[in-house]
Amino acid sequence: MRIYVISDLHVEYKQNRNWVNNLSRIDYKQDTLIIAGDVAADLNLIEEVFKFLSGIFFKVVYVPGNHDLWVNEEMNINSIEKLEIIRKIADKYDISMSVVELSGAIIVPLYSWYDYSFGKLNQELINTWADFRRCKWPQNFSQQMIAECFFSINKTEDFNIKNKKIISFSHFLPDIKLVPRFFTNSISYLFPVMGSKRLLEVISNLQSDIHVFGHLHVNCNKTQGKTRFINNSFGYTYETYFNKKKLQCIYEG
Ligand SMILES: [Fe+2]
Repeated sequence: MRIYVISDLHVEYKQNRNWVNNLSRIDYKQDTLIIAGDVAADLNLIEEVFKFLSGIFFKVVYVPGNHDLWVNEEMNINSIEKLEIIRKIADKYDISMSVVELSGAIIVPLYSWYDYSFGKLNQELINTWADFRRCKWPQNFSQQMIAECFFSINKTEDFNIKNKKIISFSHFLPDIKLVPRFFTNSISYLFPVMGSKRLLEVISNLQSDIHVFGHLHVNCNKTQGKTRFINNSFGYTYETYFNKKKLQCIYEG
């Protein structure tokens, strides 16, 4: 049994969709796939991907990213309600959005949202960051309440972790230091919406052996303390320099 990871599939891009659809229908029958968010904003595309990937992997585990929770006027729902719809689609294809215990590893999805703990909100972000227009929250929800809403879903205590590799994953970044140095300057204005320091606390308490995250669109493999942090974002079609654009195996057992 192998565990593969990917995030940020963004299958609105036809080339990304083709890549998914060209994955082997034979090779992964015994394997698990972790999807660390941002499959698509379109529910039909999310369902298409879930249906296909659940058919070729033994098990698929997923947490939503910000793009997955984008809504529009016609949908007439907010982003929290969309999360529940996605959960029903995941259930339909036996895709797990909660803890999965395998023989040698335990996979822990960590729900999260950015809470400006990596930096203060700035005007450039207010003008350009699409979540502020595409995500819709219950009235009077502050950023802290949005983050709390996601963190409160996490269940990190009710399972037996003895003698097992702990593999946690989130869409957002748990530590801004995980952004590679060469990339820091070009995205520093995005720091406030990259993740949350609270995630790192959860990961430290869990004592994760591996933590997989998405959102950054720059592949990363860095060990900090006990934990190996991995980003294997597929990314947008035009992002070809910092993304391997293939599944990454993180565990074999
Ligand atoms: Fe994202």
